[in-house]
Amino acid sequence: MRSKRVGGLTVEVYRDMRELINAAAELLFSQLRSKKESVIGLATGSTFLPFYAYVSANYRKEGISFRDAVTFNLDEYYPIANEDSNSYHSYMTANLFSKIDIQAANVHIPDGSAVNPDLEVMEYEGAILRAGGIDLQFLGIGRNGHIGFNEPGTSFESRTHVTSLTDSTLAANRPFFPDSGSPMPVKAITMGIATILSAHRLVLLAFGKTKSDALYAALNGPVTKEVPASVLRKHGKATFMVDEDALGEMF
Ligand code: F6R
Repeated sequence: MRSKRVGGLTVEVYRDMRELINAAAELLFSQLRSKKESVIGLATGSTFLPFYAYVSANYRKEGISFRDAVTFNLDEYYPIANEDSNSYHSYMTANLFSKIDIQAANVHIPDGSAVNPDLEVMEYEGAILRAGGIDLQFLGIGRNGHIGFNEPGTSFESRTHVTSLTDSTLAANRPFFPDSGSPMPVKAITMGIATILSAHRLVLLAFGKTKSDALYAALNGPVTKEVPASVLRKHGKATFMVDEDALGEMF
């Protein structure tokens, strides 16, 4: 692994996805080793499938328990039933929560079935505050530079809110909505950018060539709301863990 400082953040470059995933999982394990009641921010999507597979297969032999850990997911489609097989609730149950010893009461995901989404977003922010804030937040990056579902143009001051998904995000995520299933929601509930920046430590994972344009814009362009991930350069304790493919020729 080689690393480089870009603005306020550290970029760690791994040879391939496997090395990157092992290192990201080790970061989570060491966080839980040093504070077993850690508050962990989680993401979904294709990036996190190998991560959750590795974490769930290895946490016990690493001597880790999630019993006292608390989790907050970044986002959920809206509207969607929690039990819909395409919801992020279902994704998290299938890929992580059913495979680790976390307590259901300690798991938080925005409620895509909320009748009053304005109330839901306020309650979600309140729950994060009551938990004492997020110690370690994991992030992916969209092809358009989004973090969570904060699409280009989202205010850096935003807290948890309902958002409309862009065509780029709908196209990228459509493969997860097979024809036989429910229609793909065009909105989502997402932690806002200010919510994400409130986390003590941020780690963004990106691998594969499809992420190289977004990474280039986030690391080399101006810090602008048109590239939401660029704001992470201002955080101070943010790390991008990327592989050589995602980095391309950048450095
Ligand atoms: C998902 C999330 C999104 C994804 C991003 C990348 O909870 O917050 O920002 O991390 O869209 O998705 P994948 O990993 O599918 O390329």
